[in-house]
Amino acid sequence: MHRTGSPVDMDPEQVNELARNFWYSAILRAGIKLDVFSILEGNNLTSGEVARRIGASPRYVQAFLDCCGVLDLLDKEGDQYTNSPLTSRFLVKNKKEYVGDHALHHTNTWASWGRLDEIVKEGKTLLPYETGFVDAPTYWNDYMIGQHNRAESGQARHLVESLDLRGKHKMLDLGGGAASYSIALCAANPDLQAVVLDQKEPLDIARPLVEQHDLGNQITLLEGDFLDTHLEPDYDVVLISGVVLIKSEADCQALFKVAYDKMLPGGLIVIQDYMRLDHSPTRQKLDALEDLYVLVAFDPGAGDREGDVVSSWLVDAGFQNPNMIPLPTQLAVITAEKP
Ligand SMILES: C[S@@+](CC[C@H](N)C(=O)[O-])C[C@H]1O[C@@H](n2cnc3c(N)ncnc32)[C@H](O)[C@@H]1O
Repeated sequence: MHRTGSPVDMDPEQVNELARNFWYSAILRAGIKLDVFSILEGNNLTSGEVARRIGASPRYVQAFLDCCGVLDLLDKEGDQYTNSPLTSRFLVKNKKEYVGDHALHHTNTWASWGRLDEIVKEGKTLLPYETGFVDAPTYWNDYMIGQHNRAESGQARHLVESLDLRGKHKMLDLGGGAASYSIALCAANPDLQAVVLDQKEPLDIARPLVEQHDLGNQITLLEGDFLDTHLEPDYDVVLISGVVLIKSEADCQALFKVAYDKMLPGGLIVIQDYMRLDHSPTRQKLDALEDLYVLVAFDPGAGDREGDVVSSWLVDAGFQNPNMIPLPTQLAVITAEKP
């Protein structure tokens, strides 16, 4: 890795700043959990007024809101606070682009990251409910609603725009989670039927979302293990989103084979995931961090793979013409066809 600056420019404050970085996450997480950003949306309030609204200690709330201010989460004028433009857009509940649940999902891994030395040494994963930091229902809720935040805040629109599903009738969404992308693709393609296959917990969260979108006539939720399914081989699209990153190479390859076997000739496979397609320095930093994150919090075989590697697994499973589609978001798409 290339570094700029000479040793004389270096300052221990760079280390101190790194050490303090987790405070920033804690402040964000607390703001979301206390729902301070909904309270301050469109309102200019003093710390005392916010403290009364949330039933908290005025002194602590003042110190906390000042920290939100220095992190650009809030603007302060005189002794009054209001949301910054960033917070107003992405951290106010019920807004379309809200990503607060995704931030909770990320920070639910807090205690796992706190034991990173042990994790690295032992080569193991520590799920958030295994550390006791959150319980299993909270984990699943924040995980799934967090994934849905990501879809709703832009990813779903990009996926819809990058795929031409005209003439396709039946899609299998393997590990479909909250059904976010089946919802988006079925809404955009009224002739498409989708089967979302996942475990019980995600489907419990998907059910009301499918109902809210009035797509119960196009989307079927099916509980099961995607590596052990007995579905008819009559799908002309298979979507695998957010799964390749968190599974071992052997599981990914087995899953691509399942997709191939369940698909009609001429069918389209769509992989949407965190993958290394763009190698800019900013993206390389994100990919390095994501690669460690999935080992810490998902599976010891997980990893942020090169797009070329994922394409080669598709070809090994029998697919042809892999097409890598970088998106202006964190997740990219690869499509391929069954001959
Ligand atoms: C990161 S989430 C992605 C959810 C959704 N596809 C999305 O992109 O928002 C991964 C999903 O894979 C599901 N999954 C993992 N292993 C599975 C298995 N063996 N069978 C079925 N689903 C599985 C998880 O339950 C979870 O919902």
